[in-house]
Amino acid sequence: MAQTKVSIPVWSSQWVFIMAAVGSAVGLGNIWKFPYIAGDNGGGAFVLVYLACIVLIGLPILIAEISLGRAGKANPIQAMLNNALANKASKAWAGLGINGVVAGLLILSFYTVIAGLALAYFVKSLQGGFLAMDANEAQALFSSEVASPWVLGFWHSVFMLLTLLIVARGVRAGLEKAINLMMPGLLMILLILLGYATMTGSFGQSVSFMFRADFSQLTWNAVLVAMGHAFFTLSIGLGTMMAYGAYVGRNMSIVQASVWIVVMDTLIAIIAGLIIFSIVFANALEPGAGPGLLFQTLPIAFGQMAGGWFFGSLFFLLVVMAALSSAISLLEPAVSWLEQRGRYSRVQATVLLGALTWFIGLGTVLSFNYWENIYVFGERNIFATLDFLTSSLMLPLGGLLIAVFAAWTWQKSKRAEIVRFSNQFVERLFDISLRYITPFAVLGVFAFNLALGWM
Ligand code: PFF
Ligand code: NA
Repeated sequence: MAQTKVSIPVWSSQWVFIMAAVGSAVGLGNIWKFPYIAGDNGGGAFVLVYLACIVLIGLPILIAEISLGRAGKANPIQAMLNNALANKASKAWAGLGINGVVAGLLILSFYTVIAGLALAYFVKSLQGGFLAMDANEAQALFSSEVASPWVLGFWHSVFMLLTLLIVARGVRAGLEKAINLMMPGLLMILLILLGYATMTGSFGQSVSFMFRADFSQLTWNAVLVAMGHAFFTLSIGLGTMMAYGAYVGRNMSIVQASVWIVVMDTLIAIIAGLIIFSIVFANALEPGAGPGLLFQTLPIAFGQMAGGWFFGSLFFLLVVMAALSSAISLLEPAVSWLEQRGRYSRVQATVLLGALTWFIGLGTVLSFNYWENIYVFGERNIFATLDFLTSSLMLPLGGLLIAVFAAWTWQKSKRAEIVRFSNQFVERLFDISLRYITPFAVLGVFAFNLALGWM
């Protein structure tokens, strides 16, 4: 079996591994995206389909992906090469790793732009910038933040720098330290805000908004949105979980960790939605604001409500921490690959790949202003193209290949050494999902998106 030139670190405990993976999963997908797509797609019925996707497709792929990283004991590219060799399969399986490494960098390139905006809003809130803000002023603030490539580019750079500072220090001194610092803070803020939401007087309305099962609004398209989001929100299909899986120690349980990741990610998405809609309804604002919910609707609420300075600042700090713990996981597959090839140190690899990703991100920065209507693919500007390319194509493709390898190519005895199920029935379900349900579902999403993209 091919060996990497650098020794592979190990998470210092099962707990840190779980927190790191939860940190990767919980991000902009939960706090920014989930609430508005749930609102847009019929609330409860959509949430139900989403939950089914998470359990039937997401959980098995998550287990498979972490396990493949653990079995290959290297960055996603080398790990898949190792797995292919160990199972006498084609070396072309390394392509799965390449797909993941590239997709991670592409997602990071626009993730830091949106996260940078959240950082700008956190600072704005601290300075009292939302005080007594009305709808027009909130609109104007958002426009002015994104209208200038310099302002948006500045925050993109700051956020990228934060990400690099953590990743450059490595798994133990960088990732683990950051996770240990951020995750308890994140959970505490979430609980404080949840407590606040229950006292707004609009919590009940918020619950019924998110859980009212209006199946008439549940279109075929909504089903596909739900499935695609299940991938993105769990950080699967991109090699991130494979990279984190490589650091899993001998006695750590991958199945247990995966259940934790899925439960925490789902809970936090729902709690974030309840918080946001409670604040929105309590201030008589519009819940269906789409992607602008976070940056155009919430500041109005924070500007009007008592204690808005405190809760607004806490809220955007929550978004920043959630995004940062995801951003480091998007960079890790690529950095570990470059580092393990042996020619560059960890710091050099981080700086090189960070600079490249930062540069690609400028395309997204410009997509909000000068290049907004410059279309690259269909009617998509650079930002929309990158989002489509990764979320709709590379991510389902990665998930499909992971499922196929784990269920069809991976030798049963080899797999059982890594994935330890407590009973055979559960293992049987895992197999059925990876063998049949996942490929069928993913090919469905894939075909649909291809058709949408090219018609
Ligand atoms: N799961 C993250 C979110 O919900 O925001 C985004 C993400 C992180 C996607 C890492 C993919 C990934 F590899
Ligand atoms: Na998520």
